[in-house]
Amino acid sequence: MTNSPLPRLAVLTSGGDAPGMNPAVRAVVGVASALGAEVIGVRRGYQGLIEGDGAPLSPRDVDGWNRRGGSILGSSRCAAFRAPDGRMTALRQLQSWGVGGLIVIGGNGSLTGARLLGALAESEGVPLCVVGLPASIDNDLACTSLSIGVDTALNTIVEACDRILDTASSHARTFVVEVMGRDCGYLAMTAAVAAGADGVIFREAGLDEDEILTQLEQIIRRAYDPAGGKHRVLVVKAEGVDVSSQRLKTLLDARLAASNLPVETRVSVLGHVVRGGAPSATDRLIAGRLGHAAVRAIERGMSDIMCGWHVLRRPDGPQPTVFDLDPYVTFWPLETVLTETDRIVDGTSEVTRWRVRLLREAAPFLSA
Ligand code: F6P
Repeated sequence: MTNSPLPRLAVLTSGGDAPGMNPAVRAVVGVASALGAEVIGVRRGYQGLIEGDGAPLSPRDVDGWNRRGGSILGSSRCAAFRAPDGRMTALRQLQSWGVGGLIVIGGNGSLTGARLLGALAESEGVPLCVVGLPASIDNDLACTSLSIGVDTALNTIVEACDRILDTASSHARTFVVEVMGRDCGYLAMTAAVAAGADGVIFREAGLDEDEILTQLEQIIRRAYDPAGGKHRVLVVKAEGVDVSSQRLKTLLDARLAASNLPVETRVSVLGHVVRGGAPSATDRLIAGRLGHAAVRAIERGMSDIMCGWHVLRRPDGPQPTVFDLDPYVTFWPLETVLTETDRIVDGTSEVTRWRVRLLREAAPFLSA
């Protein structure tokens, strides 16, 4: 680590928005300003960067951002930035603003872009520190126990499940509630535990269509048992499961009819509802602490890293740098983050295996 003075910064939010992105930007602006540096807020993620759509942000500008959902700066999934030309335009834009440090707040694709931009700056001899902050409701990023937005999304899902259980109980129905998460079952698994669901379906379990249906039938049979059943079922399903929720309902209804189990089923897809809303207190705090760490990292000349939140480090795994000013924060090379993230997504990561093992161990009532 070096002690270079803090350069002018730029900050952007990219990819799917996540509750807590605004508090992260607010923290970056507040901490940088206290250290005497200016921050350019880039609108609409990498798209805005390519188009030069940014303006300085003062602490007064970001006042009140802590309690706002979505991304006030705006976000995008930018196809142009995936091409070398687009990244070169973005780099020249940062140079023209006199920016020496870029903070990218986003998920897997956004941090991949951050890494490529950092590499381009290095090869062009442009002094630019690039630091990523993990933000995605999916919690599919490695090297952080939580990404910004996960806690709020989880709370939203649990509240929705509580409501659905009210109506499920009233009508003695079975509900399959589908939640976002892309290929990652984290939100479904944790929401199922927190909501007290009867079952959970997620891609990492590796079940085929028939096995899923068999499990569901067993759960339903048990729940509607005349001798002591509870006469309603809530199953949380991750969007990454190959079989669609509607198809599952159709096949399940056919099975139930064939088994002479007259249970009414309904599907509720929560979709983007889960991504919106004011950030929870936990998300605001995590975003604030990570935003602070990102600014301090750039002040020290660190680059090509992501700031992770409260990671349980394995002695045999990759080792990060612990942030001396906040031991809950660790700095990880982006390369490590992205390699490990691929493993979380394809299910070979120790983190994924541990999540599945723990679910089976601590919540055995969630499987048939
Ligand atoms: O990555 C966040 C996420 O919300 C995923 O859970 C979901 O699969 C995807 O983004 C939805 O993307 P879009 O908003 O582009 O439809």
